[in-house]
Amino acid sequence: MDKKEKVALENALTRRFFLAPAFEIYQGVAGLYDLGPCGAQIRQNLISQWRSHFVVNEDLQEVCCTCLVPEQVLIASGHVAKFADLMVKDTATGECYRADKIVEEQLQKRIDATTDAALKHELQTVFNQVDGLSQAETDKVITDYKITSEAGNPLSPCFPFNLMFQTTIGPSNPQKAYLRPETAQGIFMNFKRGFEQARGQLPFGIAQIGTAFRNEIAPRNGLLRVREFEQAEIEYFIKDRYESVKNFHEVKDMKVNLFSYQQQLNGEDYYHDITIGEAIEKKIINHEYLGYFIGRCQQFLVSVGLDVTKLRFRQHLPKQLAHYAKDCWDCDCMLYCGWTEIVGIADRSAYDLQVHSKASGTDMSAFVKYDTPVQKELFSAKAVMKILAKEFKQNAQALKQAIETASQEEYERISNELPTGKFTILGLQLSAESIQLVKAMQSVHGESITPIVIEPSFGIGRIIYSILEHSFYMRENDEMRTVFKFNPTIAPCKCAVISLMQKDELETVTTQLIRQLRKIGISCKSDDSGVQIGKKYARFDEIGIPYIVTVDFDSLTDKKVTLRERDSMAQIRIDIATINQTINDLVQGYVKFEELK
Ligand code: ATP
Ligand code: GLY
Repeated sequence: MDKKEKVALENALTRRFFLAPAFEIYQGVAGLYDLGPCGAQIRQNLISQWRSHFVVNEDLQEVCCTCLVPEQVLIASGHVAKFADLMVKDTATGECYRADKIVEEQLQKRIDATTDAALKHELQTVFNQVDGLSQAETDKVITDYKITSEAGNPLSPCFPFNLMFQTTIGPSNPQKAYLRPETAQGIFMNFKRGFEQARGQLPFGIAQIGTAFRNEIAPRNGLLRVREFEQAEIEYFIKDRYESVKNFHEVKDMKVNLFSYQQQLNGEDYYHDITIGEAIEKKIINHEYLGYFIGRCQQFLVSVGLDVTKLRFRQHLPKQLAHYAKDCWDCDCMLYCGWTEIVGIADRSAYDLQVHSKASGTDMSAFVKYDTPVQKELFSAKAVMKILAKEFKQNAQALKQAIETASQEEYERISNELPTGKFTILGLQLSAESIQLVKAMQSVHGESITPIVIEPSFGIGRIIYSILEHSFYMRENDEMRTVFKFNPTIAPCKCAVISLMQKDELETVTTQLIRQLRKIGISCKSDDSGVQIGKKYARFDEIGIPYIVTVDFDSLTDKKVTLRERDSMAQIRIDIATINQTINDLVQGYVKFEELK
């Protein structure tokens, strides 16, 4: 997309109210956008396609959790301490910038401008590492490469800025809380219930679509960086990241573009069109679960109309990983503003369940049954109540419970302490006679583990914007005519029915056709203005309506209408009697327009 097309796209989005700055009559607020009718319908279609692709096909449990999150949850998850971006200020004007973004912007300009291959390589290698540098390292890059503000003024040293919106809950003794920065935490809170619903079996997944909030330092690029946005996330709970994935064969031969962290560090080009199977074999992707979700993610993005040649999966450098992640591949989409992350696929390990288990005191483990029981030498213990009751009276029962349900590690420790004649439990010193501890061979049927989480996280707004850019074009030799080539599932409206002329006898048929199409759930527009038919086609193309039906005078006798396809502008005559079936088959993708010819 060149500058002229980008300007035309922005005009079309505003003119046809796909989206608009929120609170515009009050000058708006940076990073807040409203979707208009076309944008809202695309969002609806996109979400419904996501549900079908993931929730239905992967048999996920969908939940809907709250946006308000008490502080203790986000302290435990690490967000209060670590969910921050580095920020710099223009020392003259005070304007704020996200440090990595201003550095990247200026490096990119220099990369594009230089013809010196060695310098290009050096700048590109620095560029690849900027996101994720420490505070001191970022300051050093700013100094070394003389990065300034957009106005050309010196920048302040960088400092962390937490991205969460803080609030309080309740009127008296208000409880500190935050608007959720990711939907994932709600899912972790409900892990135990989800595991029960999965009949105690791993793997299983929980999905959630909902709003997330981040107080972005410098929101820009429309829907791409906003302060309130929608995420569609999956937390997929697994036992072992290196086990085989059941449906891996479905993605094994899929070709993807992969940008490994080693390639980024070395300033090398990325792998073009490598199969996921080969990437796993060569250990470019660490395990089948990440490979599987990379494949399913690409299938989804292509199914909603993104250009596969403009997608690549980029692995995080170890320093770029979020505080909870062990590995992560972002899906980057090539847009006018450059490669932009639209999906993140992370291996969060057992981090979240472990930290919440520790902070809340709630067991977040999963009991995993072995295929066949194994023999193991294990401790078991009985409390000697006669002694406990005498020494500890009302605490005796609690001590008995603690003695008889302790973990194997605890028993190991107690067994080491017993030769001293005493042992500790619940912080109390007990005599060795109050426990009967034995070690013997036992049949073990399974073990308790904390599941690992694989998390594909989709940004709905960023995907909508990517679809808009990848679908937009200007008709050849007629730059005034702009078109969105949305695929029918995503198109905000599926068809239009118009009369060739404003005549009552034609309008009667048109009205009847619209009514019957809407009755079977096909959204349908009309245009009874007096303008010429070419102008009406252009208005519909401008919002990406894929099929237009025109009723003319012949229709009254031959009972046929003209059906026009948006991109080829080809027209065919079809029977009025088959119109519902034909449009439905086209929209559902059961038949292609060329096949009707
Ligand atoms: P960036 O580095 O661009 O800020 P991120 O790495 O912080 O993105 P994640 O934390 O991985 O993003 O969030 C998961 C997904 O949520 C992203 O892939 C993106 O699609 C979406 N997302 C994150 N922040 C925003 C935002 N400010 N506006 C719109 N979408 C966002
Ligand atoms: N849940 C992943 C993220 O929002 O970054």
